[in-house]
Amino acid sequence: MTADPLIAHARRAALRAYAPYSRFSVGCAIESVDGEISVGANMENACYRLGVCAEVAALTAAASSFGLDRIARIAVAGGHIGVDGALAGAAPVTPCGGCRQAIYEAADLSGLDIEIISANGDGTETMAATIRQLLPHGFGPASLKDAG
Ligand code: THU
Repeated sequence: MTADPLIAHARRAALRAYAPYSRFSVGCAIESVDGEISVGANMENACYRLGVCAEVAALTAAASSFGLDRIARIAVAGGHIGVDGALAGAAPVTPCGGCRQAIYEAADLSGLDIEIISANGDGTETMAATIRQLLPHGFGPASLKDAG
C-alpha cells in the first residue's frame, strides 16, 4: 500500500466512478497549496463521447472549493474494481491529453509547475512528473498574449 495520502484519496475516489461502458474506474485527488483536498471520478454516458474524465471532475470540484490557481499536487489512480470491491490494476494511469491541457491551464494561472503522481489501481506502482514534463510547449492563457 502506498504511503502518500493523496494517492489513497485518488484510489478511494475511483470507487465512486460511473464507468459501466469501459469498466475502467479512475479517481483523482487534488491538493491545494494549503493542504485542502478535492476529488473526482470519471463519469461515462450512454452517448460515449460525453464521458468526463476523473481529472476534469476533480478540477471542477477544486475550482469550487479553493480555486484553480491554488493547486499544488494531483494524484490519479485507475483500474478495475475487483470482486473484493477494491481498485486493482497493474499500470499507473497518467492523465490523457485533454486532461493535461486542463491541468496546464491551472498551472499557468498559478505559475506553479503542478506535480502529478500517477498510480496503478493497486496503489503499488507510482510515477511522478510535473505538468510541464507531461505537456511540454503547451498552449495556455499566456499563449494568447498576441490576441487583438
Ligand atoms: N479516463 C480518465 O478519467 N482519466 C484519464 O486520464 C484517462 C481516462 C477515463 C475516461 C473513460 O471513462 C475511461 O477512463 C476509459 O478511457
